[in-house]
Amino acid sequence: MESCLRNRVLVTGASGLLGRQVFSVLKEGGWQVRGLCSTRPRLGLVRCDLTKAGEAERQIADFCPDIVIHLVAERRPDVCHKKTHDAEVLNVDVTSSIAKACSKFGCWMIFLSTDYVFDGKSPPYSVDAVTNPLSEYGMQKIKGEQVTLQEAPGAAVVRVPLLYGQLEYMKESGVTAMYTDLKSGALTKADHTQKRYPTYTKDLAMIIVKMLERHSEGKKLQGIYQWQSDECLTKYDMVQLIAQITNLDASSVTASTAVSKFPVPQDTRMDCSKLILDLGIDPAHFRTPISSALSETFRLNAAHKCGEDAVPQETHAEIRRTAQDPDEAAIKERSTKFHRTVRAPAGYTIVTQETAHAGTKTCSLVLQDSSLDSALEEETMEDPSRCRRFSHPCFVVAS
Ligand SMILES: NC(=O)c1ccc[n+]([C@@H]2O[C@H](COP(=O)([O-])OP(=O)(O)OC[C@H]3O[C@@H](n4cnc5c(N)ncnc54)[C@H](OP(=O)(O)O)[C@@H]3O)[C@@H](O)[C@H]2O)c1
Repeated sequence: MESCLRNRVLVTGASGLLGRQVFSVLKEGGWQVRGLCSTRPRLGLVRCDLTKAGEAERQIADFCPDIVIHLVAERRPDVCHKKTHDAEVLNVDVTSSIAKACSKFGCWMIFLSTDYVFDGKSPPYSVDAVTNPLSEYGMQKIKGEQVTLQEAPGAAVVRVPLLYGQLEYMKESGVTAMYTDLKSGALTKADHTQKRYPTYTKDLAMIIVKMLERHSEGKKLQGIYQWQSDECLTKYDMVQLIAQITNLDASSVTASTAVSKFPVPQDTRMDCSKLILDLGIDPAHFRTPISSALSETFRLNAAHKCGEDAVPQETHAEIRRTAQDPDEAAIKERSTKFHRTVRAPAGYTIVTQETAHAGTKTCSLVLQDSSLDSALEEETMEDPSRCRRFSHPCFVVAS
């Protein structure tokens, strides 16, 4: 085992839904934190492609963390189903490389997993309940758990359910994904069979920080843990709640009991008592009621004006992107849907920036201060006071 400094935390996937929250809570809490990202560079994050041979070890050797929180994943079940190999590289192979490097450099590792490891037929599920995933995603996450615990024996795995929180675009979370269609009147029905326990990323980030604190105090947190909110909602319930919060009319949306296209677990309620006991916490302090957490999410979204509802109205620029891969109907449809005119506020220009890794091109929209040089400098792009960045999977096109 090679030596490492203490109290340094490396967060992989720090540009993601959960990673952004974990990264900022750690920063605010005074931890020495480095966040890694891939296609969504932002202030303070280091950009890398963890699928590259040797990259995981390079990143860990370079920062020399005490703790690694591994959040990189392909977590869209449909993408895992269609692009099994690519998803497996991210969900399993990268996790294995991170775990091996953690073991080599003596870092404690936390790996985030999912309630989709269960079939949803016999809740509640204890941490040692038999897993039986219904999807490729669930299967890959189990493999991720296994390689983590094999390669980095002191590691902790935390299974969590559907997440929501501060967003870059509405469809980033399964909870808010229906908002755009609800708003446009295109949403006619929502599932009312599958029981979900939507969990606020801010609460989960606080739980993760609590784990770090307990670990630093010498408490051994090892093996499988589970965390989720204690409020149970179906997608239909979520739509009704969103309508209430945003003053939209959801009276024409019907509660669907149709069988879903992809097999999904019906009820994955998880027993969180092991984590509660080991952290010595009152769980109520880490479970913001969904009505206020979701209100806050929409309030923040409006304040930051993120995603497809974000682009303000004034001078305009047109952005067009087309999916190139004919097999990727879903991506193509989403890309095509997003063809539209977007407008920049006075004093700003909309520019696009293309990045590519692992055969995938991503196009980001950036609102750039018009007084700046037209050549986009990386540091200008990173300066939130001068640029506002919008990344969206609609702009992801297969090359
Ligand atoms: N979101 C949920 O509802 C949910 C539910 C249950 C469990 N989980 C688990 O929670 C964890 C965090 O999920 P999340 O929702 O935050 O995921 P996410 O929003 O999809 O973010 C994924 C992260 O992985 C990074 N990434 C992707 N490919 C990479 C590569 N080749 N090299 C380096 N980084 C790469 C992304 O970077 P860029 O964005 O910069 O490309 C992004 O930061 C995952 O383990 C997931 O399985 C999530």
